[in-house]
Amino acid sequence: MLAAVVLEKTAEKAMKAAERCKKADLIELRLDSIRDLGPATLKELIEKCGKPVIATNRKSNEGGFFRGNEKKRVGLLKTAIDLGADYADIEYSSQASSKFLIKNKKNTKIIVSYHNFKETPDSIKKTYGNIKSLNPDLIKIVTRANSAADNFRIFDLINKANDEKRKIVAFCMGHYGQFGRILGIILGSKIAYASIEEGNESASGQLTLNELISHYKLRKLNKNTKIAGLIGNPVAHSWSHIMHNEGFDKLRINAVYLKFQVDKLREFIDYFKNLNSLGFSVTIPYKIEVMKYLDKIDEKAEEIGAVNTIVMRNKKLIGYNTDCQGAVMALKEKVSLKGKRAVLLGAGGSTRAIAYGLMEENMNNITILNRTIKKAKDIANDFGCGYGSLSDLKNVDYDMLINTTSVGMHPNADESIIPSNLIKKNSVVFDIVFNPSKTRLLKDAEKKSCTIIPGFEMLVQGAMLQFRLWTSKNAPEKAMKRKVLDYLKNAGNKN
Ligand SMILES: NC(=O)c1ccc[n+]([C@@H]2O[C@H](COP(=O)([O-])OP(=O)(O)OC[C@H]3O[C@@H](n4cnc5c(N)ncnc54)[C@H](OP(=O)(O)O)[C@@H]3O)[C@@H](O)[C@H]2O)c1
Repeated sequence: MLAAVVLEKTAEKAMKAAERCKKADLIELRLDSIRDLGPATLKELIEKCGKPVIATNRKSNEGGFFRGNEKKRVGLLKTAIDLGADYADIEYSSQASSKFLIKNKKNTKIIVSYHNFKETPDSIKKTYGNIKSLNPDLIKIVTRANSAADNFRIFDLINKANDEKRKIVAFCMGHYGQFGRILGIILGSKIAYASIEEGNESASGQLTLNELISHYKLRKLNKNTKIAGLIGNPVAHSWSHIMHNEGFDKLRINAVYLKFQVDKLREFIDYFKNLNSLGFSVTIPYKIEVMKYLDKIDEKAEEIGAVNTIVMRNKKLIGYNTDCQGAVMALKEKVSLKGKRAVLLGAGGSTRAIAYGLMEENMNNITILNRTIKKAKDIANDFGCGYGSLSDLKNVDYDMLINTTSVGMHPNADESIIPSNLIKKNSVVFDIVFNPSKTRLLKDAEKKSCTIIPGFEMLVQGAMLQFRLWTSKNAPEKAMKRKVLDYLKNAGNKN
């Protein structure tokens, strides 16, 4: 079930917010945030919701705003029960209040909840057991993930609750916990909490109703849904999930693409090897490290020395590189490559892939310039290119300039890897950074009458190749591209 959280300061605003929850299955009313709430307004508010309601009156040490005494706090929840609220949420830390509400619940289902804003403690299993012993209708456990692996302990709890035929809602807050909010639903967590709009989240990492429904297709997920996703750190800026989930949906493939912010790669791979996974995209900083943990690496990816795509077949992980072909396809849509001179700025995982791809295209000359010269030299030696430092750009002539560094990437959208006076008039400038869609470098290049190619084009081409590797089906390119372009036009691209 999908619950929209109404977190407003006045009853009037809460009623207006409830009208914007049409797409939700139920509404969590955060009574603690509403300052002017009496029994009559509460009745009106519950009626106005027009769908099942969770009454929550959170105390301050569990992330809430209620300032009165415990008697008043529980009294308001009891009033909500008397008014026919479908659910009432009470903290496990208020044991006497939990017992009182469970005893006086009438037709209301009682959620006994535990929140930890600091961590996912080792004792979490014990907490689950303690809440279970109160025999509530729903056990709710919300902790903070300080590492991607914290989610795994929460998943274990969901599995345990399933085995014990207990209803549970469990997830982690924070960026490391965001993927778990969706994966938990697939595993059997009963409620996904969403904010009504961006900027109105009741907890860190919470997604909006629109993101869960439109970007992650939450309503179509079930226990047979296969997992795919982006492994990296950071990953928040990525739009790949919007494209891939649209593609899966259009072809009726029961799969979901998540964004995994990962801190310890080995631990993450070991865990996901045992899940129902299709495969993964890999981004900074893991394209090289991930190669150690794979069962097999495609010949081209081996030669490039970086993997950006993992396919899972029969519990074996196979590494590929689609950056190479994706970049060449994006370039060739606009310009011919044969006989041209290119400068690549950067010497990371994607530089290796692009240098390899360009060498295969019979270009005249490729030069790699990087902040750390040693890294540029290593790639140049592997592929037969020239190399130097970024400041050498003023001495190198080129037809095509390609930024393969992360400089200019959201949120540092006003940065450029080079000053605009080093951009050659009428040349081709390709920036593989895809968020923002038009980087500072590309804006500067436009002013010099250059042909510009945004990283978005490479992202789309790469996504098509990955989709085919995971599903053995041609990706519905038009639909996937349209979906992400709509997103950029309507909401996402604030740059
Ligand atoms: N459009 C697409 O489809 C697509 C595909 C892949 C990647 N990308 C984007 O490409 C970028 C690079 O990805 P990657 O995987 O190649 O990353 P990576 O392996 O971590 O390499 C990053 C490169 O950026 C350089 N760099 C970082 N900060 C810098 C700074 N402040 N000044 C100068 N150089 C700096 C690094 O230089 P040092 O070597 O000196 O550290 C390194 O050469 C990311 O933004 C990624 O999102 C886009």
